[in-house]
Amino acid sequence: MPIQQFTARDFRCLSSIELEPDQKYNLIYGANGSGKTSVLEALAYLGRGKSFRGAPTTSLIRHGQREFVLFGRVGGDGRQGSVGVRNSADGLEIRIDGDSNGGAAALAAALPLQIIDPDVHFLVAGPPDYRRRYLDWIAFHVEHGYLEVWRRFRRALKQRNAALKSGSTAATIRGWDAEFVALAGQLDAGRRLALEVATAALEEAGQDLLGSDVRFEYRAGWNEERPLLEALEASVERDLLQGSTHAGPHRADLKLIYDERQARRLVSRGQQKLLACAMVLAATETAQTALEQPLLLLLDDPAAELDAASLRRLMGRVGSLGGQVIATSLEPVTGLFAASAAVFHVEQGELRRES
Ligand SMILES: Nc1ncnc2c1ncn2[C@@H]1O[C@H](COP(=O)(O)OP(=O)(O)OP(=O)(O)O)[C@@H](O)[C@H]1O
Ligand SMILES: [Mg+2]
Repeated sequence: MPIQQFTARDFRCLSSIELEPDQKYNLIYGANGSGKTSVLEALAYLGRGKSFRGAPTTSLIRHGQREFVLFGRVGGDGRQGSVGVRNSADGLEIRIDGDSNGGAAALAAALPLQIIDPDVHFLVAGPPDYRRRYLDWIAFHVEHGYLEVWRRFRRALKQRNAALKSGSTAATIRGWDAEFVALAGQLDAGRRLALEVATAALEEAGQDLLGSDVRFEYRAGWNEERPLLEALEASVERDLLQGSTHAGPHRADLKLIYDERQARRLVSRGQQKLLACAMVLAATETAQTALEQPLLLLLDDPAAELDAASLRRLMGRVGSLGGQVIATSLEPVTGLFAASAAVFHVEQGELRRES
């Protein structure tokens, strides 16, 4: 069971809440502005060390307060632990089982979670960095060592870009490229492997949610007809001119092919949401299998944009994953889940269990 007990203090509108979720299905309902998204965002922050909406941390501290504190008891089946986060003007403090040496990656390992919120369609229709993050999340959970490769590549890219900006010669830049290319190759291989592992789950989710074939089409981030070293060589003058590197895995993208069309261009908003949900559920399933543990899935207003039949299909698929689900809605809807759920009401930032 991913999260057994959760407390939040001074996070957005939540002054102090305590949540003891059911190990399976949970519903948090309340009026507009009552604090539903705040509860899910607090949970997501505890699992990521940052806002899933990209909100700056200072905007998350409750007005008039100096810090927020989040705490959770996590795990189950013999693997119990605790995660805590405190954020103030002094920065972020993370504690895993009382130990403050881990960073955001340690949080993500201790409380792996995925989110479906009303902006989930950005995964399909938004810029490529949404999909790179998606891909990296899968690879992080599936492959030991991926995070280290990713960090080393980021460092190499930063150094190369700094050299480009500082007016180095093309020859000096070339001196960086062997390491850059080696790390890029490892990162690319890790991403390809992650996609390979997630493909079957995406196909199944696509069939379940949209009744059609959905598949990934991966772009490495450079013209793949030639080696990256050649692509770097070909663009070195432009790189120098613009002070940034134009070829490499930081430019990777993932296209989603839906009914043999490119999903980003041709589907309706509701279909975009279903496609994005298929992606999120495929990632969740893939990580669950790799980690051999149920994950936490946060569903913020899952009904938004979906007709009744689509919502039913989505919730059916969510249920079949077998993880822990915390969903929000405006009303205490019965029948959202396939089985009974713990129900919580939120009102003006106060959370109360109802059943
Ligand atoms: N830092 C903050 N301090 C205090 N209140 C905040 C802070 N940030 C946001 N809020 C307030 O929290 C309230 C609840 O927001 P939240 O997004 O959680 O509501 P919600 O229940 O999800 O609403 P909706 O149904 O419209 O999605 C809002 O009124 C918002 O203005
Ligand atoms: Mg909301």
